Amino acid sequence: MLRDQLRESRSHIGDHVYELAVLVGVYLVGRGGVVSSLDELSGLAEAARVCVVGRITQRRSKPEAATYIGSGKLEELKELVNATDANLVIFDNDLAPGQTKNLEEYLGVKVIDRTELILDIFASRAKTNEARLAVELAQLEYSLPRLKRMWTHLERQGVGGVGLRGPGEKQLEVDRRLAQRRILDLKLELGTIQRRRNREVTARKTLCTVSLVGYTNAGKSTLLNRLTDSDVYVRDQLFATLDTRTRRWSLPGWGPVLLSDTVGFIRDLPHHLIASFRATLEEANQADLLLHIADASSDEVSFQIDAVFQVLTEIGIRDKDTLLVLNKIDLLESDCLKVLLSRYPNAIPISADRGIGIENLTIAVSDILSKEFLELTIELPVADGRLMALLARDGEILSKQYGEETVCVHCRIPQHLVGRLRQEKEIRGLPENVS
Ligand code: GTP
Repeated sequence: MLRDQLRESRSHIGDHVYELAVLVGVYLVGRGGVVSSLDELSGLAEAARVCVVGRITQRRSKPEAATYIGSGKLEELKELVNATDANLVIFDNDLAPGQTKNLEEYLGVKVIDRTELILDIFASRAKTNEARLAVELAQLEYSLPRLKRMWTHLERQGVGGVGLRGPGEKQLEVDRRLAQRRILDLKLELGTIQRRRNREVTARKTLCTVSLVGYTNAGKSTLLNRLTDSDVYVRDQLFATLDTRTRRWSLPGWGPVLLSDTVGFIRDLPHHLIASFRATLEEANQADLLLHIADASSDEVSFQIDAVFQVLTEIGIRDKDTLLVLNKIDLLESDCLKVLLSRYPNAIPISADRGIGIENLTIAVSDILSKEFLELTIELPVADGRLMALLARDGEILSKQYGEETVCVHCRIPQHLVGRLRQEKEIRGLPENVS
């Protein structure tokens, strides 16, 4: 009965064909969190239009070399796959190509791991040319060592023979060469995009930039919309948006800054993805301040905050000024909020959706930027276009007043620029107490 219902639900839910999957999570002693992380895997499966029909977990000190899980669990998994009519098994842990092959042979259904699932979601969500190229690169790099698995079915059918390279083997080499070629082309193309983006981001540097980072579904796009009155796509699903959007934000008490949204993070974000999305993350890299948005209503909030710090470390921007923003407080009991604020005393609690705490957030951002930047009026020779260009590139020119030989520039510049400007003998008006 259950099987019939499930088969029916697989054929059509809405207009989409769903796959039925059993999730497998192995708790490696010392790592932690298998049950909740299967909840997240379930969310990821849903985002990939997969219907979860069963879950299996195991506790081990280390993975079984051939099949990741032990033989008893494997048997249990096979029974569950048969009983639920599942046609897919998704592992929460990373599988080696050989393990996937052995598992597929034994279970008779497709087996994928968390990385492959995330790549699949990214592939279906990528809208712009750049995001599509980045996802394709990550997918190819992931599948290159696994190409053999895709051809073993030909070998099993007896194609080829002893001492001969069968068509499967030949095709494998052709595929491998094609994949390597395509990887090179994609890297070149993404490199060009990255250089162009670097130039664009640097050229825009006349305004301060603030970048939103955070775990997927934390509410970054909602906050971007709230602060800039824009209309960016918001949905209650993982990785709703993959591309960076930048908007102008009129920060009360400060003036305009650029606010950009970035791709959502997730724990153990596949390395290939981080590498290929580096260009997209350039905005965060060049930002003067990061707003780290966390979903305070999630049971996993601390875990997610740590995961975001981990990704920031991996992309080399962990040292940037960062303000933690606890979002979705409208869903929290006040006691829970107190506990969170005692753990993160500098965090700003808000609800982007309800517009709660937004004023406090803008004051906090203004304060941080004011500490980093100095507002001053300096005098330079009219003829020195180079100095004016430097001020415009690294700071913000608020107004200019021309005299016969000099120009008075009212500007906002980062503190560290003062030392550099001091080397220019013609500049007057630099503060003495800043080095
Ligand atoms: P990704 O694109 O996956 O990185 O997501 P995101 O961080 O941009 O999240 P997004 O703004 O798309 O919001 C995710 C979901 O959370 C949406 O359903 C929002 O409506 C909801 N949401 C955002 N902020 C709040 C909030 O303050 N309160 C409540 N209750 N829901 C919120």
